[in-house]
Amino acid sequence: MISRPESLRKEHDLSAFNCGKEPLTNWLKKHALQSQLSGHTKTMIIAESDNVIIGYYSYNIISVGHEDSTPDRVKKGLADHPIPVFLIARLAIDSKHQGKGLGGRLLRHAVRGAAAISDTVPIRAIIVDAIDDEATAFYKSVDFEPYPAHSRRMWLLMKDLRKTLGSGA
Ligand SMILES: CC(C)(COP(=O)(O)OP(=O)(O)OC[C@H]1O[C@@H](n2cnc3c(N)ncnc32)[C@H](O)[C@@H]1OP(=O)(O)O)[C@@H](O)C(=O)NCCC(=O)NCCS
Repeated sequence: MISRPESLRKEHDLSAFNCGKEPLTNWLKKHALQSQLSGHTKTMIIAESDNVIIGYYSYNIISVGHEDSTPDRVKKGLADHPIPVFLIARLAIDSKHQGKGLGGRLLRHAVRGAAAISDTVPIRAIIVDAIDDEATAFYKSVDFEPYPAHSRRMWLLMKDLRKTLGSGA
């Protein structure tokens, strides 16, 4: 049985994890826990009952500026101050488990979590950094739009997400 998304802990078994994209595999194995302990990123995982991890996403809150590369709708109507966004920095499913709906499930958990946080902390948009064209296609399939001049970064406005969630999606 696969767990609900939960916070990464040192008891989790990362040894067999391989999503087929080395930077994402290595980051989970070598950096995720330390990054979480130091308060830089938070990692949520899904695991089998023996604690073997089969998927994860990592996020933090960052700010983006009003530079030209920031999409117009993200900065529209805002004063010239840093804009807080929820960054899904990494998301991956072990290769043996891809194509079974788990990536979509983790992504939904991430965006719902961002929406919940935005009840108390201002968050203008959700940003994702897709690792390659395949990842870009995955995020496009769930309504993220590419940054105009930043082909691997994508965005979704929090107010648009709220409408989608409000519609029961
Ligand atoms: C990309 C990844 C997270 C998708 O997870 P998954 O469990 O295989 O995907 P799912 O089965 O949950 O599919 C969810 C939806 O995305 C779509 N999708 C999945 N992979 C896709 C792709 N490469 N291109 C376009 N759409 C894709 C599916 O068709 C599905 O749509 P549907 O709900 O309308 O049927 C996974 O393949 C993975 O870990 N890849 C390696 C790491 C990676 O590229 N991470 C991306 C973030 S940087």
